[in-house]
Amino acid sequence: MFLSAARSDLNPIFSDNKIKLGIFHINGPGGARTLVPENFKPSWDDSVDAAIAADEAGFEAIVPYSRWTSEATPGHQSGTTFEPFTWAAGIGSRLRHSCVMSTCHVMHVHPIFAAKAVATADHICNGRFALNVVCGWIPSDMKMFGHADIGVAGRYAYADEWTAILKRLWTEDTEFDFEGKYLKVESGYSRPHPIQKPYPALMNAGGSDEGQNFVGKHCDIAFIRTETHEWMKNRAASYRRFVAEAHGRAVQIWIQAYVVQRDSYVEAIRYVDYYAVEQADRAHVDAIMKIRNRPLSPEENATYRRNLGAGPGGLPLLGNAHDIANELIALSRLGIDGVLMTWVDVRESVRRFGREVVPLLEQAGYRKPLRQ
Ligand SMILES: Cc1cc2nc3c(=O)[nH]c(=O)nc-3n(C[C@H](O)[C@H](O)[C@H](O)COP(=O)(O)O)c2cc1C
Repeated sequence: MFLSAARSDLNPIFSDNKIKLGIFHINGPGGARTLVPENFKPSWDDSVDAAIAADEAGFEAIVPYSRWTSEATPGHQSGTTFEPFTWAAGIGSRLRHSCVMSTCHVMHVHPIFAAKAVATADHICNGRFALNVVCGWIPSDMKMFGHADIGVAGRYAYADEWTAILKRLWTEDTEFDFEGKYLKVESGYSRPHPIQKPYPALMNAGGSDEGQNFVGKHCDIAFIRTETHEWMKNRAASYRRFVAEAHGRAVQIWIQAYVVQRDSYVEAIRYVDYYAVEQADRAHVDAIMKIRNRPLSPEENATYRRNLGAGPGGLPLLGNAHDIANELIALSRLGIDGVLMTWVDVRESVRRFGREVVPLLEQAGYRKPLRQ
């Protein structure tokens, strides 16, 4: 007999902590485009160690990314990433508290495989698994899989069919047929179902109107771009309003951030200057600039390059423990439910964050202490 229970009772991603915490990108190079020797390298032992540090600090989420080709030249370290389903299931088997997600690109993985992989991982993780569904466009990944460019509307129409099949495989007791524009399933069936009812949480980072509609229809978490505080506040509010009005549902809003914790803000900024500018992996930054290909003024160019060096995107969380805790509290007040974070020296830094920042969030009433 398999256990089954409401996901809100099993999965910390649904906790009522006012600011939820996650670690991002440790199935590959940690996210910073830098040559400093302390930068995270994706060995299995080190990713387990970093995930255990986050688990012990009470983080709600451990999230890998889905990247299949190098972002720079062939053989560049950005092309060395663990496959997210296998990685996440292995990591989840070692943790006691956190939710582990897989990140899955809909066009690279058939939904029948994804449904069974998530269900299996949910059993491995005792109902603490979730899925980040991506519909990205990274040209080298799409080319390697042989996918034609079907445009943003096409990708989300594909994702809509993919996710409809996934949910039916997770929830229906009888076989079903599905025939869409892109996907066809005959006598669809998948057992076991996930432990979590009705099914594991879905996250998506779509930025387009089509992406937002996909989140509204199917997802529990919107992973939004980070811009100014005012922009994120408006975006969080408008996202919630849209999802409530168009789809009658509620979603959580998460963002990403890169963290440098030092004894002072000045020290943290100096370290960013060092690792993200002076020691930036320039070939890697150049390659990303080329993919994104946006016209920029010289000042915008310098800021953009610095951000690309510092992390895989997102907001800077810099300074001492108080500075970082205060910024996380400010984000919660803007309507942000969770932050997925990256660090350069991930393993040590997450432990320091757990010792120094998490207790401040607990004292301020933004998080509850983890029950041992
Ligand atoms: C924080 C974040 C993480 C993302 N992770 C991935 C990823 O791992 N793999 C991928 O192919 N795309 C990833 N994307 C791309 C998104 O899935 C999405 O395609 C992108 O935000 C553009 O939005 P759109 O698809 O609505 O145009 C990510 C985007 C964001 C903002």
